[in-house]
Amino acid sequence: MNILLIGSGGREHALAWRLSQSPLCEALYAAPGNPGITEHAKCVDLDVTDHQAVIEFCADHSIGFVVVGPEAPLVDGLADSLRGKGVIVFGPNADAAILEGSKGFVKDLCAKENIPTAAYARHTSKADALADLPRFGLPVVIKADGLAAGKGVIIAETDTDAREAVEYMFTGGFGDAGAEVVIEEFMSGEEASFFAISDGTNVIPFGSAQDHKRVGDGDTGPNTGGMGAYSPARVLSAELEVEVMRRIIHPTVAAMAREGRPYQGVLFAGLMLTSEGPKLIEYNCRFGDPECQVLMMRFAGDLVALLHAASLENGLANPPAVELKADTALTVVMAANGYPGTPEKGGRITLPDVDDAKIFHAGTAINDGSLVANGGRVLNVTALGHTVTEAQTKAYETVDSIEFPTGFCRRDIGWRDVERERS
Ligand code: AMP
Ligand code: GLY
Repeated sequence: MNILLIGSGGREHALAWRLSQSPLCEALYAAPGNPGITEHAKCVDLDVTDHQAVIEFCADHSIGFVVVGPEAPLVDGLADSLRGKGVIVFGPNADAAILEGSKGFVKDLCAKENIPTAAYARHTSKADALADLPRFGLPVVIKADGLAAGKGVIIAETDTDAREAVEYMFTGGFGDAGAEVVIEEFMSGEEASFFAISDGTNVIPFGSAQDHKRVGDGDTGPNTGGMGAYSPARVLSAELEVEVMRRIIHPTVAAMAREGRPYQGVLFAGLMLTSEGPKLIEYNCRFGDPECQVLMMRFAGDLVALLHAASLENGLANPPAVELKADTALTVVMAANGYPGTPEKGGRITLPDVDDAKIFHAGTAINDGSLVANGGRVLNVTALGHTVTEAQTKAYETVDSIEFPTGFCRRDIGWRDVERERS
């Protein structure tokens, strides 16, 4: 079949790589794609906010299957528009993508279904939110309800910071996303990401990962989209994964189906592993970036078969095998200087030939025939190893052979499990 992949990041490069390897894939197109993706797909200049243009492209190119990478087109209803025309899509409709689009919706769903998560309150009035703060103690977590590009969460350590965070959100600090604010109890523990694939009724686990959100070594500095990840997250033991499926994922998928908004696609749960067991921090309605890169590195099955089955009603009743190698995959994000603020664009990059690592492109471009940085997160250097330590060593060997003078990376990706392996 002919396949269209929507997106342009490192996540989509990793997806394009695996999709193109499937015997079911005849022609692969990516909109808009990136220079790395051109190795596996024909990149097309298509405005994905123009649903009619995407529908016409699919008709003109006999596209049998669309895979949507990022959340914005899903929350914007691109999957609905395509399904409305009979196109098979991997990714939820807008009324199901609300699991990422509204934090308040998820909290209410958790309360109804008894899904473990932090205590919370939703507020649309600043005065009510300020009055409600004290009962949560300190630290307290203040969140903009809507999509805020991963930046709409403030953890306040003092009363003053908490009040300022509420003021900031209600005065439009995160735009429309902050018209409603969610206040949450602070949970402590180690974080892990867990992935599951659902056809709306059936749901199967798809592995775990740990991201590194802070920009600096030792988890310091501002939050980013993710500076590196590894998979599997060993802290999420097989027993805990079973508990997460039973107490969090299954009840969510069942509740969404009952509400008449079945969730089709990948469900990405951000978890806090607390002393009381795993609790849900948030949902995303897509693969993580860079978590997808490490999952794809471990994936050994037919990605088209799996994602296509998940896009059909009851398609996962007898699911194709999810084959994830037992090895650890680790990815290091190379970012442009300035990130997560304004990244320096145009810096030249020279890539080595490597065969025991994969260099996924994110924010790159070709300028006058040269590869240059064209975004915040630029490259994802990804390696496999029998241990985290081995995967880390291999990934950094490749990082060190890349010439990218206007870029930087963290030097400690995987540190938690590297320390655990040492002891
Ligand atoms: P989110 O965008 O909801 O994933 O939140 C971003 C980050 O804020 C998470 O990865 C956590 O590190 C932190 N966070 C969010 N909610 C809580 C909470 N209730 N308790 C502790 N940390 C939290
Ligand atoms: N790396 C975190 C995310 O994709 O949301």
